[in-house]
Amino acid sequence: MSDPRKLFIKTYGCQMNVYDSERMAEAMGGAGYVETDSPDDADMILLNTCHIREKAAEKVYSELGRFRALKDQNPDLKIGVAGCVAQAEGEEIMRRQPLVDLVVGPQSYHRLPQMEARTRNGEKALDTDFPLDDKFETLKSRGPKARRGPTAFLTVQEGCDKFCAFCVVPYTRGAEASRPAARILDEARELVDRGVREITLLGQNVNAYHGAGPDGADWSLARLIRELDRIDGLLRIRFTTSHPNDMSDDLIDAHGTCDKLMPYLHLPVQSGSDRILKRMNRKHTAEEYIRLIERIRAARPDILMSGDFIVGFPEETDADFQATMDLIEEVKYGYAYSFKYSTRPGTPAAEREQLPEDVKTDRLHRLQERITHHQRAIQDAMVGRTVGVLFEKTGRLPGQMVGKSDYLHAVHVADCDRQPGDLAQVEITESGSNSLAGRLVS
Ligand code: SAH
Ligand code: SF4
Ligand code: F3S
Repeated sequence: MSDPRKLFIKTYGCQMNVYDSERMAEAMGGAGYVETDSPDDADMILLNTCHIREKAAEKVYSELGRFRALKDQNPDLKIGVAGCVAQAEGEEIMRRQPLVDLVVGPQSYHRLPQMEARTRNGEKALDTDFPLDDKFETLKSRGPKARRGPTAFLTVQEGCDKFCAFCVVPYTRGAEASRPAARILDEARELVDRGVREITLLGQNVNAYHGAGPDGADWSLARLIRELDRIDGLLRIRFTTSHPNDMSDDLIDAHGTCDKLMPYLHLPVQSGSDRILKRMNRKHTAEEYIRLIERIRAARPDILMSGDFIVGFPEETDADFQATMDLIEEVKYGYAYSFKYSTRPGTPAAEREQLPEDVKTDRLHRLQERITHHQRAIQDAMVGRTVGVLFEKTGRLPGQMVGKSDYLHAVHVADCDRQPGDLAQVEITESGSNSLAGRLVS
């Protein structure tokens, strides 16, 4: 038997891309490939790309250019582009960068092995269709399953019908679709058999999940979570990303009653100004968002909130920006991602008059300064508390273990006799710049 071919995958963008890269690696495993962690000795390089902001998309072309020397050395090297840039700019990629042999959109991954075979015949392969078959079902690897680390992502819902005025996702990922509940439960059980203890359910609009249940009824995300909660050996459940308008009562209730559901919720708002929210097509007001968080906190008082913000959206005035700052002061996020508005081709807001770059930069800095302040205060307030920590790996110091708290803070524990995958109670003793330290509570 000849040596297996080597596949190098580089993943950009969101967690769903991480999940997709794993699935593609498994599918290519069936076609005789093993993964390598360096492009230098690869027989195939796959970039799994992100189109969400201009910088993310441009990165792809500069990265591709760097592979020219590798291809000169090894003419059999195949180069592929997957993900959201592939979906949005497939043909343009082929035109702009002749090094590329293969372009595959996020909904066509299950066809990757056949596409790779075509490139071996010297053809170029491009597939950016939105087929109706369940790609994850086809992608399922049938071979023996390797052991995995303690945490895993599991995509339950994909695509988006919300069409926020700034966002490419509805175009790159297509319409909202939920996977059948039974397949998700099977996949979760298999992950647990392979050593996984914490599963993060993924979807561009994960809380809009409404998959066919085994009983014939439509299951909500809360229903799915309650069923996952019963899997022995699974210790923690998380989900991301949610839209405020899909935060149903049963899901809020699950945060108060479901032990394995962790007290952390990523709930992007983007802006605190009603005028801008309307121009963004977010379909809720700042007040409605704040009331929603009050209800969530009533169900789970210690929940740590995280969010996403866009500054410098077209027409955003100083007063609009101040409204965002006020909302941040009110909610006090334990974590947040914030971005300067970036024009995306084909989206409604790209056509509008744009704000000067220095205004965007200034607002981003001011916003991040406040977010960091709250983040710090919330992290510091963990000192003295006892929290659950799921250990993920050994630390840099001998005898040290590193894990994540229920609230997703990184926690270091010295002289720790636990293994990756163990969940323990830890008393937090110190708050550092990016992580906490603590000691095991017996
Ligand atoms: N589905 C998720 C977010 C997907 S994109 C949701 O609805 O919240 C992740 C984040 O990227 C968004 O929340 C937004 O803050 C940011 N983002 C999306 N498009 C952007 C753009 N054109 N410019 C800047 N940031 C953007
Ligand atoms: Fe994009 Fe809005 Fe859909 Fe989120 S809800 S993926 S921001 S269109
Ligand atoms: Fe990026 Fe696509 Fe995810 S645009 S954020 S990789 S859905």
